[in-house]
Amino acid sequence: MRFEEFQLERNQSLFENEVDYNLSESGVHPLKISEILTSEEQEQVLDTELFYGYTNGTPQLRKRVIDMYDQNLSLDNVLITSGSAEANFLSIMTQLERGDEIIYMVPNYLQIYHLARSFGIDVKTLPIRQEIGWQWDPDELKTIVSSNTKMIVVCNPNNPTGAIMKNEVMDRVIEIAEDLDCWILSDEVYRGAELNGVECRSFAGATNKTIVNAGLSKAYSLPGLRIGWTVGSKAYIDKAWSFHDFTVINVSYLSDWIASRILTEERRRKILDRTKDHLNHNLDLLCDWAADLPSITLSRPEAAAITFAKINLEMSSEEFVFDLRDHHSVLLTAGKWHGLEGYVRFGYGTPTDYVESALKRVKSFLSDKK
Ligand SMILES: Cc1ncc(COP(=O)(O)O)c(C=O)c1O
Repeated sequence: MRFEEFQLERNQSLFENEVDYNLSESGVHPLKISEILTSEEQEQVLDTELFYGYTNGTPQLRKRVIDMYDQNLSLDNVLITSGSAEANFLSIMTQLERGDEIIYMVPNYLQIYHLARSFGIDVKTLPIRQEIGWQWDPDELKTIVSSNTKMIVVCNPNNPTGAIMKNEVMDRVIEIAEDLDCWILSDEVYRGAELNGVECRSFAGATNKTIVNAGLSKAYSLPGLRIGWTVGSKAYIDKAWSFHDFTVINVSYLSDWIASRILTEERRRKILDRTKDHLNHNLDLLCDWAADLPSITLSRPEAAAITFAKINLEMSSEEFVFDLRDHHSVLLTAGKWHGLEGYVRFGYGTPTDYVESALKRVKSFLSDKK
């Protein structure tokens, strides 16, 4: 089977550890174990026997996850996965077949886009539009769906724009999906990283055929735990779980152990407050930096450690990123890899002094382009 290249991840994988400054990350700088566990828990870690554990995730962790959603969910509505990447993979593998059609939001992370196309699924892209605040126009959605549409796929908050879907747009998406009796798949891995500190509305429980995927890599600053989850009906979860037998069997016992302890409401809030403070601080800095730069126009995100900047230069997004990478050793991601040419994505979740030093290099790169 031939897979399309996942350009975004491939470019990050190849260069993120080679450059002096990696601003291609979309999450917040990782926390240390010593910052998230009490000293007693750290002691317990040393004494932990490394079982396989529960292949669908421990009941403790699944309980923590369902408590994050304002819905009547039970433990049977959650499967713990190896990152939200695995959750997305399972959703596509279990619900779609060759020849099915999906509606896919762009710009986006494009994992599902490449994966679905590689499996012979017809992916119809529908852009969110900057002129309406990076939102979908629901009337456009209505005209693009067909009786063959099996799934509407969104990323909310959105990567790469950091936009949050408006309530009225969500309502229309749900209504359209219900009319078609099709799936909604909402990738919500950036939920919890809202700049105003208010967790946005989730699609969880919107319809019987709604799947929500998320995890701890972004808002929670814990990508190295590789903890994600998929939330949906029991029938869907049973199917995804049996597929998970083939992908990874289960997540690391230690990751599940740590996640179940740190996701109590109080501790979870503390992590998200840290995220909010850090992002607001760095975003102000980034906006000040960009204010007098004619060569790029930043779009202010509502969530996530990323901003999508319009390039006002005669060069493609890849030329911009490769030139900056090769001559100034700073890595960004190209709009093309997100499905929208003419933009580059800046990640600003790293420590403030790191972001500042990287931006100095970007400025010097841009001054050469005048
Ligand atoms: C929208 C989106 N979904 C999923 C992922 C995968 O994240 P993880 O597997 O670390 O949870 C990413 C990573 O950047 C992402 O941006």
